[in-house]
Amino acid sequence: MYNKTHALMRRGREFLGTEHAVLCGAMSWVSERNLVAAISNAGGFGVIACGAMTPELLDAEITATKALTAKPFGVNLITMHPLLFDLIAVCAKHGVSHVVLAGGIPPKGSVEAIKDFGAKVLVFAPTLALAKRLLRTGADALVIEGHEAGGHIGPVATSVLAQEFLPELADEFVVFVAGGIGHGDMIGAYLEMGASGVQLGTAFACASESIAHPLFKQAFFRANARDAVASVQVDPRLPVIPVRALKNKGTEEFTAKQREVAAMLDAGTVDMEQAQLEIERFWAGALRRAVIDGDVENGSLMAGQSVGMVNSEEPVATIMQRLMEQSEAALAR
Ligand SMILES: Cc1cc2nc3c(=O)[nH]c(=O)nc-3n(C[C@H](O)[C@H](O)[C@H](O)COP(=O)(O)O)c2cc1C
Repeated sequence: MYNKTHALMRRGREFLGTEHAVLCGAMSWVSERNLVAAISNAGGFGVIACGAMTPELLDAEITATKALTAKPFGVNLITMHPLLFDLIAVCAKHGVSHVVLAGGIPPKGSVEAIKDFGAKVLVFAPTLALAKRLLRTGADALVIEGHEAGGHIGPVATSVLAQEFLPELADEFVVFVAGGIGHGDMIGAYLEMGASGVQLGTAFACASESIAHPLFKQAFFRANARDAVASVQVDPRLPVIPVRALKNKGTEEFTAKQREVAAMLDAGTVDMEQAQLEIERFWAGALRRAVIDGDVENGSLMAGQSVGMVNSEEPVATIMQRLMEQSEAALAR
């Protein structure tokens, strides 16, 4: 049915064990049992966002997801989580097939600990040199994610990353492209460049199965691409990772939060690592306020530039089918 798309996705589909090599990137608070199972049941690859969960909560979330789908799904762990190795142990206990390590360079021993129980490891890398090193030292697949994406972002556009990374890596390794994909034309294009598959977040965040608050979803449906803006760093000493979200009062609060944390740095009450953790805690709290409580004024409406193409609530299967049909039509052209 999707012959050309599936042929180009072959390595990605084999790697993930799915019908389509389409991952729904982990989204904190959004990517829980319901959305993850719906993605996997629709032939894609759902990923649980562990975020700041405790090992006990992750344990329960994996159990609940397994009850909703018999298809493969993954778990996304944030490398700076203080209990990273305990979370890996929870994944091992459940025989999780794929672990995505996000938020920084995987700490020593983490890739090995995941491979030890037989799971595959997916990593992100900001530079080609680091990507090569990670792939040659044990990581099984790479996700390249561009500036257009929702949530924490890097400085370089997906189109540029694709040109830089795919010609060098795609023959030898499984590479997924993420950031700014809202139409299947783009999926076909990245597959032709050598990608084994794609990862989307924004396009699936407001699916019918997503537990995101109705007001969060409405904000997505109303927004245009230009409303999804990257946060600004106010203090040169405090290197905050930019976050792309819909502009609201919460965006301004982040500026105030940075000033507060910079003052704590000045006073010596926190060191740089604690300062960055403080910033990450701010985001986790702000995202929860918007996604769960529906506070779309003060919470964080993390969204990518593809938000302009998200106009109504649809079941995951409908979104997936449209993306695959569009990709197939593009490749046929
Ligand atoms: C609301 C939201 C929350 C996100 N949270 C996370 C997260 O917790 N961990 C992570 O690795 N990526 C996170 N992301 C990034 C997604 O996994 C995915 O890579 C990204 O959305 C892809 O780009 P797109 O939004 O342009 O499709 C988040 C994205 C959004 C929109």
